Amino acid sequence: MLRIEKLTKTFGRTVALDGMDMHVEQGALYGFVGPNGAGKTTTIKTVIGLLAADSGRVLVSGIDVAEEPGRVMARIGYMPDTFGIYDNLKVAEYMDFFAACYGISGLKARERCRMLLEQVGLDDKADFYVEGLSRGMKQRLCLARALIHNPPLLIMDEPTAGLDPRTRYEFKEILKELCRQGKTVLISSHILPELAEICTDIGIIDQGKMVYEGSMDEILSQINVSSPLLISVAGDRRPALEILRSHPEVDTITIRDEDIMVGFRGDKRDEITLLQRLVDAEVQVYGFSRERGNLESVFMQITDHDSGEVVLRHEN
Ligand SMILES: Nc1ncnc2c1ncn2[C@@H]1O[C@H](COP(=O)(O)OP(=O)(O)O)[C@@H](O)[C@H]1O
Ligand SMILES: [Mg+2]
Repeated sequence: MLRIEKLTKTFGRTVALDGMDMHVEQGALYGFVGPNGAGKTTTIKTVIGLLAADSGRVLVSGIDVAEEPGRVMARIGYMPDTFGIYDNLKVAEYMDFFAACYGISGLKARERCRMLLEQVGLDDKADFYVEGLSRGMKQRLCLARALIHNPPLLIMDEPTAGLDPRTRYEFKEILKELCRQGKTVLISSHILPELAEICTDIGIIDQGKMVYEGSMDEILSQINVSSPLLISVAGDRRPALEILRSHPEVDTITIRDEDIMVGFRGDKRDEITLLQRLVDAEVQVYGFSRERGNLESVFMQITDHDSGEVVLRHEN
């Protein structure tokens, strides 16, 4: 559906995209994740033809955006990360305006707008003024607008930023429904767990490069450091490291501040055995737990360059 090949883009001295690759399959709900400034918005703007890349290619359904921007735009619904202000415009008028922009008018426009407002749960707000809507409603209106020409690919730039949890939940339900209807959805965020529960695929961008791309199932099973053990040790930690290095279920050991972060393959029983070994060796353990929010830590490990000193890494 969407293929990006070796995209580069610089702004003066800032390298925003540095050989960016991306593959989004048809029907995917693709989470595009990366820290602020990683290059998400630049990538998206290049895909929709708002920015010209320095080099590389963007293909939407096999069509090169640089060669046929019009045909590409007809296939994409785009929701920017900012919401424009439209004073004195009612919801229905706002939708009519965008329908007209795509050459949809009359009965067809009215029917399409009604259907979309219903889909995003704003059918009872058609006569309300846009500026009077809550942030979450504006967001949903923006989504309805992006779908006006029935594009197969929907691209959203940080749509859930600044939404309250309930609105975010409703928004995600709408996205899942769109996918069930056969749309391909690309959604960016700087928070990985935010997307993890709904996405089928994930691409992690850092410093203008794709550093991880794969299916959600893959990222969960493959990255064995996804849920590291956090071990806090008082005093000399060398004896603890000694034991950890030789322990069969230990894959990685990273020192982070006071803690030892351990990529650990074992289950609960294995955790007990490991803790017992440490205590038997008179290591002064005062903290021993699985880190919460395991996806967040995957994300941090991939994108955080100097959070800790990696002292062991088994390649398996
Ligand atoms: N118009 C611009 N002029 C100069 N620098 C820019 C411009 N747009 C983006 N950048 C820079 O490019 C990098 C990537 O930005 P961006 O794509 O907005 O990241 P993200 O959306 O992931 O937060 C950042 O360092 C940003 O400061
Ligand atoms: Mg951005």
